[in-house]
Amino acid sequence: MSRSHNATVTVTTSSGEKTIDASDSSHLLDALTAHPEFHIPAPCGGVGTCGRCRVILVDAAGAPGPDAEERAHINGSALDAGVRLACRVIPTDGMVIALPDLRTTAYTKTTLQRFSSRFDPLFSADTVSAPAPNLEDQRSEVTRAVDAGGCSRADLSPHELAGISATLRETPSDDGSFVFDAIRTTSREPVLIGVRPASAKAQRAMVAVDIGTTTVAVYLIDCRTGEMIDAASQLNAQAPFGADVVSRIESESRSRRGAAADAIRKQITRMIRDLAEKHRIFEIDLLGAAVVGNTTMIHFLLGLETRHIAAAPFIPAMTDAIVVRGSEIGIDVSSGFRVHVLPAISAYIGSDIIAGVTASRLFRSKRLTLFIDIGTNGEIVLGNKTRLLACSTAAGPAFEGATIRCGCGGIAGAVASFSRRRATTQYATIANEAPVGICGAGVVDVLRVLLDDGVVDETGRMLPVDEALETVPSDARTLYEKRITTIDAAPAFIVVPADETTSGEPIVFTQGDAREVQLAKAAIAAGVDTLLDEWGVGPEALDRVYLAGGFGSFIDIGAAARLGLIPRESERKTRSLGNAAGTGAAAYLVSDAARVDVEKVRAATQYIELSSSMKFMEAYVERMAFPV
Ligand code: FES
Repeated sequence: MSRSHNATVTVTTSSGEKTIDASDSSHLLDALTAHPEFHIPAPCGGVGTCGRCRVILVDAAGAPGPDAEERAHINGSALDAGVRLACRVIPTDGMVIALPDLRTTAYTKTTLQRFSSRFDPLFSADTVSAPAPNLEDQRSEVTRAVDAGGCSRADLSPHELAGISATLRETPSDDGSFVFDAIRTTSREPVLIGVRPASAKAQRAMVAVDIGTTTVAVYLIDCRTGEMIDAASQLNAQAPFGADVVSRIESESRSRRGAAADAIRKQITRMIRDLAEKHRIFEIDLLGAAVVGNTTMIHFLLGLETRHIAAAPFIPAMTDAIVVRGSEIGIDVSSGFRVHVLPAISAYIGSDIIAGVTASRLFRSKRLTLFIDIGTNGEIVLGNKTRLLACSTAAGPAFEGATIRCGCGGIAGAVASFSRRRATTQYATIANEAPVGICGAGVVDVLRVLLDDGVVDETGRMLPVDEALETVPSDARTLYEKRITTIDAAPAFIVVPADETTSGEPIVFTQGDAREVQLAKAAIAAGVDTLLDEWGVGPEALDRVYLAGGFGSFIDIGAAARLGLIPRESERKTRSLGNAAGTGAAAYLVSDAARVDVEKVRAATQYIELSSSMKFMEAYVERMAFPV
């Protein structure tokens, strides 16, 4: 429900203060999400169940006090300090709030590589010359430019057409011929998408974009050499709309329509501009992009209806490849900037998976390979050169840290590895910064230690301290005596004590977290079982396992096998690919062979729907227990 009343709210962050209009917002979260610079996590999409959308009310300006949901999620001293849930606070005029300093830079491994010895850029710029016009040759300027550029046609906006006469004549030539830079895109046949004054010095670049539900990655690539100039990744600015795609789709129907699309479009534009500025590349010299993402993210980007993706029979508006002008979809980088969106297979097997499989080249090999992309969903592909099977499991965002009490994405300060030696624990954080939370890889490590020590049993139950002390190794008793505590009337383990964290609060792993991981790993393992069953083999037949995605960048493969996330038989055959989707999108930019491969992978992949699969249901129940 939306209210209309006068309400201006002052928002303070570490980078300054801003006054926003919250007159039409039913709650603070709604008002804040209209401003992408305020990155508020809201895994539950604003329904009040996750407790993560925390703000500090510096001046409540007469707003009602905390309600029952807020009291359930925020402890007494934090409530006293003004901590509230943004999705529960009704904005009032003159309200002042402070936002915690949230990190948005996400860390993933990039394994960008050359895909073929032949470099065939999707976007190119070459200096060409067209003969001077005369009475025998009265071809139009556009036709001259198309012919000189070796193109089959032109696709120029009225704005570009208006400037073509001047541009063609800008560079002087002795014989009156037109010397200019022809900007081309080459998805099937070369198309002239721009003309520029001839410049041997201009550094032209193109970008590969991977839009993950949690993380957005952008790679800047040199159009002349195909080399990667730089890359950036950030947490997806749609986080305030929910942690998973279904919450974001639901949030879209509850709040301002188009807000989630705006957030991702603005974020991509900003990331591209920032990278270009860092390398002193003019916006006019950014020629275009290849974009991959899960199907929902691509729908948001293109402004397509997302509602029918969220419910059975899960029908997307479109899964085909499409080329659009950036300006048509709010990627306002430069006037001629083109966006090639790669094709998807279904609502839950997106272009990111096709790009990842293309990058892995598993479809070219005889060896039977399992490809698992663990993000907010777990997408799985099984195959080799003869056949490809794919499924998507609603694993939930536990491995992205989203539904974990102290979870976070792969940001600086995320605990990414954890181990125990006698009565001490060791942990490492991303970028070696002071701990702020646990990312998916850290969650897997913590749970491995707790399973190995018997603090969590194979049913996923975390033992209370007295019971645990009877089970844990004798050299770890003093540790667990201090580190097992009680949260919400259930046992919890202190991963990092309060005096070592940035917030001054301990980083804990709770009984609820163990259950979240258990559900997610059961879904992924059951998806694997279903594909193996469909193929007619067992896990011993696997030659290789590839882990893709941000989570796969930091995960300890032994820990993943210990939890039953990947088949134990395959532990030694498993390797992490890092962000394979980003690698595939970059390959699409630099190699015609990769562009052909994308189509081949799409055509060869058989999608298996799990929601109606009996095998999946049985395997899901079976895989719920942790291996002993
Ligand atoms: S509790 Fe506010 S977004 Fe989840």
